[in-house]
Amino acid sequence: MIEGKNVLTGVKPTGKPHLGNYLGAIKPAIDMGASAKQHIMFIADYHAINAEKNVEILNKEIREIACIYLAAGLNPDKSIFYRQSDVPEILEITTILTAFTPKGFMNKAHAYKAAVDKNIAAGKPNDDGINMGLYTYPVLMAADILTFNTDVVPVGKDQVQHVEIARDIAGAINAYYGKDLLVLPEASFDDNIAVIPGVDGRKMSKSYGNVIPLFEDDATLKKAVFSVKTDSKPIDEPKNPDEVLVYEIYKAVAAPDKVQEMADGLKNGKLGYGHIKNMLLEAIIEKTAKEREAYNYYMSHYDEVQKILDAGAVKARAIAAKTLQRLKEAVFGF
Ligand code: ADP
Ligand code: TRP
Repeated sequence: MIEGKNVLTGVKPTGKPHLGNYLGAIKPAIDMGASAKQHIMFIADYHAINAEKNVEILNKEIREIACIYLAAGLNPDKSIFYRQSDVPEILEITTILTAFTPKGFMNKAHAYKAAVDKNIAAGKPNDDGINMGLYTYPVLMAADILTFNTDVVPVGKDQVQHVEIARDIAGAINAYYGKDLLVLPEASFDDNIAVIPGVDGRKMSKSYGNVIPLFEDDATLKKAVFSVKTDSKPIDEPKNPDEVLVYEIYKAVAAPDKVQEMADGLKNGKLGYGHIKNMLLEAIIEKTAKEREAYNYYMSHYDEVQKILDAGAVKARAIAAKTLQRLKEAVFGF
């Protein structure tokens, strides 16, 4: 489905991803690099400054996310990987897109509306603490996408609307100039990807504080796994696996024969909650050991990561310069 297509995803550097992000978003997006015609992943650092101004924190989060993507298997020979702020053409293209973007689109954009709703709920003025970066964020995101002739943007549900805005802006520009200057992108959202539950049984999410972290030390991982909610049934009482949260999470990480083993052990009262938590911990460690090790390597050899990002920016700028030139010729007539 993505063969022959240009695929692009942006990642905001805002904290280390958890098991749910990793299995639900990072891995699938990276894996697309094997079959896409052009595969781009970038660190959306200009998006991040809307919310994070502290230079030390920002810098740390950018480094962490760069190392995590490489550790998770992003292949810089197949995929273009760069920092948004290293590709200034995107900002020039943003300016052109702005002239074709109805202000009403911004009022309706999901990220802005969510911030307003939060203010209203807290009894504050609608636009309290909302900067123009957040307000116009979908235009920058549109430029991120349209600059690279993107066909497909794999995103979470909350980002689908922003991709539709990019498509509408591209459509408006193409219609005005009467030619296909920009590729119309589509969001791809995979409904088949399982939602991983968090330690309290709700969807694993940063905002619920119920995550199993991946790129922390073993002790932190263990603590999270052992905090997965259970009831107080004794070991020998038979349990229905479908009612056991540890089992639900296990299904997402363990091999089918191990999953069967846990199900059988629960049904016939052979496995208690301590056992199955240890099994879950082992499965997570086994599934992500290579990545966690690679992450630590990259963090302590950041010069290598920097070189990869620099080389990625050179490739990205070559594509971006062509799009910018095409647009300027249409806009200014030369
Ligand atoms: P969070 O809820 O932790 O803030 P985001 O909403 O930023 O996570 O999601 C980032 C990406 O990770 C999205 O593509 C989303 O679909 C995926 N994702 C987040 N939580 C889960 C989960 N529990 N299971 C599977 N995928 C998830
Ligand atoms: N807005 C996205 C998020 O919050 C990040 C992002 C920025 C992005 N530019 C993009 C995603 C372009 C896909 C394509 O997660």
